Amino acid sequence: MMILKNSASKSRIPGFYNLSMEERLDIIKKLSDLTDNELQLLKNGGNLGSELKDKSSENVIGGFSLPFSIATNFLVNSKDYLIPMVTEEASVVAAASNGAKLARKYGGFTCDPVKNIVIGQIQVIPKKEEAIDQIILSQKDTLLNEINTHHPTLVSLGGGAKDVNIRKISTSRGEMVILDVDVDVVDAMGANIVNTMMENLGIILKNELSSKIQAKIISNFPIQRVATCTAIFDRDMLGGEKIVNRILDLCAFAEADLYRAVTHNKGIMNGITALSLATGNDTRAVEAAAHAYASMRGKYEPLSKFHLDKECNLMGKLVLPLSMGVVGGITNVHPVSKIALKILDVATASELIQIAGAVGLAQNVSALRALADEGIQQSHMKLHKRKFI
Ligand code: MEV
Repeated sequence: MMILKNSASKSRIPGFYNLSMEERLDIIKKLSDLTDNELQLLKNGGNLGSELKDKSSENVIGGFSLPFSIATNFLVNSKDYLIPMVTEEASVVAAASNGAKLARKYGGFTCDPVKNIVIGQIQVIPKKEEAIDQIILSQKDTLLNEINTHHPTLVSLGGGAKDVNIRKISTSRGEMVILDVDVDVVDAMGANIVNTMMENLGIILKNELSSKIQAKIISNFPIQRVATCTAIFDRDMLGGEKIVNRILDLCAFAEADLYRAVTHNKGIMNGITALSLATGNDTRAVEAAAHAYASMRGKYEPLSKFHLDKECNLMGKLVLPLSMGVVGGITNVHPVSKIALKILDVATASELIQIAGAVGLAQNVSALRALADEGIQQSHMKLHKRKFI
């Protein structure tokens, strides 16, 4: 039986892939202090009771189960993490673990703290004579205070509506005025809080403006809630100078070519979406924001950048907005998401988002290395057959 390492290197579990599912589960149980009930739920394929299924969606007639896996080797900001991933794609978990292993030699991943600001939007169809910006800006603090009174818990945690910005936009249906409200959602993904807040603000604004208040909704582009993650990947572990140069060629290819850039970014999202799904986060919001960010400079670009350091190791950097939470939505309702968060052992949304950035970068470097070497089918199939982790 495998000897467990101390928690300082708890994500390094050499030979994890060689164990039976039962043995792996036993190790994760010990490392993450899972209860017998949690263990049983995982053994049962995370099968939710009929009642919970029926409550989660509409017209439910059954369930749909996917593999729940653990990626190993992750060292993020000097802390070891076991990464829960839910994906149907073979070799994604192996590739993430492999990419994380390549980063360990130089200290793993370094990720910046994340601001939990999410934008809520109010669409106003202006009446010509009304100076909407003046009316709103002259009472901005009062409006912010008023909407915050509906969210005392959020405010007590340091969150709440923080600012309002006003933009005039020209549309095919004429001029519109858009209120962008910055909301600190603390540890939530934010959609429920922000949508409720915007609906409350809409009611208040009806009394202040004669213009028509229309949509009141979150923006799924959280441009201030950004994961910024870097790592150094060892040249020799990558396969030497030839492979490193080919990886740089692949990056140049992605920078110059839309068709390649989409696939490059898809590789990054293989990891982030799998973590997002495991932790009960909104995978569609995460994906939409990532691809919008990739095209923010007027051209769709790769989300990661690579260059060489002085020793010709590969330095990677991934930046993307990510709205993920550790409370709210189904994160604390879905029993398997709860287990995922327990295994991950994160305290805040900022920590989760930083880890997601690291997972995306690990996934990306592993895919690029495979492409630079023997090709994705052969290399990933080898990984899938568990030769490299
Ligand atoms: C496969 O799911 C993802 C890759 O195609 C990503 C890439 O090409 O960079 C391997």
